[in-house]
Amino acid sequence: MKKPFLLGTNLKMNKTAAELCSYLQQVDELCLKAQQDNMRYFVIPSFTALPDASRLNLKQVRLGAQNMCWEDQGEYTGEISPVMLNEFDIDLVELGHSERRNKFGETDEMINKKVLAALRHNMTALMCIGETREELEAGETYKVLRRQITQGLQGVSGDQLDKIWIAYEPVWAIGVSGRSAPASYVQEAHKVIRTVLCELYGDSGKQIPLLFGGSVNPANAASYCVLEQVDGLFVGRAVWTPKGFSEILHLILE
Ligand code: PGA
Repeated sequence: MKKPFLLGTNLKMNKTAAELCSYLQQVDELCLKAQQDNMRYFVIPSFTALPDASRLNLKQVRLGAQNMCWEDQGEYTGEISPVMLNEFDIDLVELGHSERRNKFGETDEMINKKVLAALRHNMTALMCIGETREELEAGETYKVLRRQITQGLQGVSGDQLDKIWIAYEPVWAIGVSGRSAPASYVQEAHKVIRTVLCELYGDSGKQIPLLFGGSVNPANAASYCVLEQVDGLFVGRAVWTPKGFSEILHLILE
């Protein structure tokens, strides 16, 4: 059976709770209207907006958190634990976004601890990986991806893979100063990621959804979503308005 196609966004440090709720209601409606059984949608807002958002009774859009601590409680000032997220029925958590890795010093080891914590709490871990511009220029892309996957998934067993999603987001493609990756580049990188996953987990590695992200926009979305190893799009700025979300959704459905 063909895997469902995932369309989601991380809102980063944007939108107040009120702004988010209005956005979510409109996006949920759009997804409902699209009537696509094989699409799955998710939105990952800031922590402070999650309580209000979780009360909206959304029909199509799944909510996620942008990060979390690997511990359940304790001396971790400023952190949010899986127990706290579970309280709001959040069962999806994004881990290791490049901004967490590069601006807040998160290492593969920390991300691995978070992945294991997510699994302990029955949450889906959306682990982000991707090479920096320097790593790309040094020809180290595949080495970096292999390391991020192997270390990030250390201790994850084959029967836990239904709770793992991977987003490949080349760091040089992300954000306002990013440049979009050619589809051929994405295709090759996703093949390498799939190969590494199959080396680790045999055929079960094929079931892990691989999303692509980094300056996905209306001009390039169609070229990515047709690629064989792309099971979803993880979009930023381009879908932060209901209109933008609708545009990308319809490009995927065409
Ligand atoms: P962008 O963000 O689409 O705005 O480049 C992508 C991301 O950081 O996930």
